[in-house]
Amino acid sequence: MRRSLPKLSALVAAGWMLGLPSPHAAGLDPPAATPASTATADLRNPFFGDHAAAEKGEELFGRNCQQCHNSRGKGGKAPQLVRGAWGPGGANSDAFMYRTIAAGRPGTPMGAFGSSLSGDEIWQVITFLREEARRVKAATGSAGDDDHLW
Ligand code: HEC
Repeated sequence: MRRSLPKLSALVAAGWMLGLPSPHAAGLDPPAATPASTATADLRNPFFGDHAAAEKGEELFGRNCQQCHNSRGKGGKAPQLVRGAWGPGGANSDAFMYRTIAAGRPGTPMGAFGSSLSGDEIWQVITFLREEARRVKAATGSAGDDDHLW
């Protein structure tokens, strides 16, 4: 965490802990229509491994995120989202990613997308980034240690 945001950090940390060790163990039923609320967000990615969803996510990423996070989330004006802790098996869970996208990071350029994207759309973006992370890892042979390289 690069800035001091006590309330948000506590919230994110709590959510992060809830999301571990496995968000998939939460046993929640996916809501029929998923509102992008951080409070009711299902912790599981309903589109896990779904390539069609990843393609929709790629398009959404291009329209909403790429101007800061660069093409395919490789990092630019904002952090990369596909290597290190965001890489396959990395420390950052899907649930943590979901909450960060939905709630944003107040006080930083990272806005909250919880009202402009639906819950399904946020999961589609995550599905794209996770697929891209696996592709990057396969291409480089490792998740890399350049997690903090913008
Ligand atoms: C206006 C620029 C901007 C846009 C647009 C933007 N972000 Fe960000 N994002 C940032 C910045 C800057 C940070 C780092 C915030 C901080 O200092 O903690 C960030 C942080 C993040 C993080 C946490 C990264 C980490 O390692 O802690 C995630 C995940 C993320 N953004 C995803 C997205 C997604 C997905 C979208 C599109 C739906 C998006 N962002 C759109 C600027 C942006």
